[in-house]
Amino acid sequence: MTRYNIALMPGDGIGPEIVAEGVKVLEAVAANGGFTLDWDIFPHGADHYLATGELMPEETLKDLAKHDAIYFGSIGDPRVAPGILEKEILLKMRFYFDQFVNLRPVKLFDGVETPLAHKTASDIDFVVIRENTEDFYVGIGGRASPGKGRQELTVLRELYNVKFGLDIDCDGDELAYQIGVLSRKGCERVMRYSFDLAVRQGRGKVTAVDKANVLTHMYGMWREVFGEVAAGYPQIASEFNFVDAITMWFVKNPEWFDIVVAPNMFGDIITDLGAMISGGLGLAAGGNINPDGLSMFEPIHGSAPKYKGLGVANPLATIWSGALLLEEIGEAAASQQVLDAMHAVLSERKVLTKDFGGTASTSDMGNAIVAKLQ
Ligand code: IPM
Ligand code: MN
Repeated sequence: MTRYNIALMPGDGIGPEIVAEGVKVLEAVAANGGFTLDWDIFPHGADHYLATGELMPEETLKDLAKHDAIYFGSIGDPRVAPGILEKEILLKMRFYFDQFVNLRPVKLFDGVETPLAHKTASDIDFVVIRENTEDFYVGIGGRASPGKGRQELTVLRELYNVKFGLDIDCDGDELAYQIGVLSRKGCERVMRYSFDLAVRQGRGKVTAVDKANVLTHMYGMWREVFGEVAAGYPQIASEFNFVDAITMWFVKNPEWFDIVVAPNMFGDIITDLGAMISGGLGLAAGGNINPDGLSMFEPIHGSAPKYKGLGVANPLATIWSGALLLEEIGEAAASQQVLDAMHAVLSERKVLTKDFGGTASTSDMGNAIVAKLQ
């Protein structure tokens, strides 16, 4: 029997509750599929940080590396200053494991309401591939005060290490700057992944998102590389959209989209919109994928601290992320069974969590999915 070693990191807020339902569902589908999931629990998150001062040390990363996948809940806690847990735990893992693909399906299930008038499940079914290691997320920048100064900025990546030595001579008031970085290889690999996914899923078009009309340096290169990669896939249509325009088209004509490939920050923004048009954050799933390495699966929503422990959070985003995990480790049939079970439960509209106007608890929803699997 095939055994998979999964690192389980429930995280903060509603994380532990939703992850518990995800594990329940994955266990049920594994039993059906004749494979075994062995879980190693990692306590990293706000409580662990506040108790020990530890965020995500090198030894933990090395330990995680021994697993077949990471199943992650959510991160963020009002007791910790914003950015610390996000950067030092979540982004740290995305970058360390070079999970350059952030795959976020935007799919309206039957039985789920969209706020878009006259749109149905057949209109809203696309995938956003968000570049996940570069752009403004490299996190370099600083503040300059009047006078002369110097700063060394470093980006360490699997693909490259780059240092910027910055001489600053500022005669104005205090200023802040943030440097975005894209690499040719970094663009190329995520675009190739997007076109390959279009081929695999039988989708006809890849849309690239940018703001090349203003941020000409980074997104000028993004466009250039997209044109080159697209040329290698003559059977797949390709197009550019500016990020401001695509927010409008997501609302007006979501049926136009098949695969959307976006730089990191725009991808972050447009996938919250994608979530909203397809049933809300309670349903929106994601995978941080390194096709040749260790991938991590998590709902795209946050830790919702005010709902912590109440048992009202919708676990479907996490359950769907678990289905993406199964697909990535090579259990495609089991992954499809989870999606079918979700489809069955959602289209019946009997078990509805609070975000869908119902009273079902987090575990009622997990149990309903498990019941469909059995
Ligand atoms: C997401 C989140 C993260 C991001 C935060 C928590 C760092 O918003 O996964 O979309 O910006 O990528
Ligand atoms: Mn986000």
